[in-house]
Amino acid sequence: MSDVPSVDPLRIGIAGIGNISGQYLATLPRLAGVRVSAVADIDPARAAAVAGPGIRALTPAELLAADDVDLVLNLTVPAAHAEVALAAVAAGKHVYNEKPLALSTVDGRQILEAADAAGVRVGCAPDTVLGTGTQTARRRLDGGGIGVPVAATAFMVSPGPELWHPNPAFFYGTAAGPCWTWARTT
Ligand SMILES: NC(=O)c1ccc[n+]([C@@H]2O[C@H](COP(=O)([O-])OP(=O)(O)OC[C@H]3O[C@@H](n4cnc5c(N)ncnc54)[C@H](O)[C@@H]3O)[C@@H](O)[C@H]2O)c1
Repeated sequence: MSDVPSVDPLRIGIAGIGNISGQYLATLPRLAGVRVSAVADIDPARAAAVAGPGIRALTPAELLAADDVDLVLNLTVPAAHAEVALAAVAAGKHVYNEKPLALSTVDGRQILEAADAAGVRVGCAPDTVLGTGTQTARRRLDGGGIGVPVAATAFMVSPGPELWHPNPAFFYGTAAGPCWTWARTT
């Protein structure tokens, strides 16, 4: 028997059923601590297409008001991130935003301050830094495994999201992705 007390799963409502939502919908059912209870999109057909047993298709407003949603998983386009996150916080929900948190640090701070005041929590992608690769590297660094690093370099090269994304315009918009957010708005 485990000493870990059992807790009810965190009930997730997904806002934005686009390209990336499939990965979340495939992965989240494997985690015991969470349960997707509702989905919503400004295009109702997108939400309806992934609804099923235990997952209700709602309008975005219904999702924010739903009693069976503890956390809004914000998978909308970047331009809608702050608005959706602030509405979720105002409704008393925790929020996890896809990246970027918001299009500006002003909006990002507003989300964090509103969440602090409301007593809810905010998370944001990318959470891949918590994965085994980065954490193993961090552990080796912290443990002195490679001595004192004097320099670091990293590259990520891609021919562009238009090769695989059906609607890639936002990737080229303001504050698209975490690097742009920090480079252009701080
Ligand atoms: N596609 C990827 O591989 C990928 C990878 C990493 C991060 N992301 C991030 O995930 C987010 C979503 O990306 P995507 O590729 O799924 O985009 P997408 O354009 O395919 O889907 C976005 C969905 O959000 C909906 N939407 C827009 N505004 C809304 C609102 N106010 N309320 C409810 N629904 C709304 C749209 O109708 C659409 O269905 C973006 O922030 C992006 O940066 C995507």
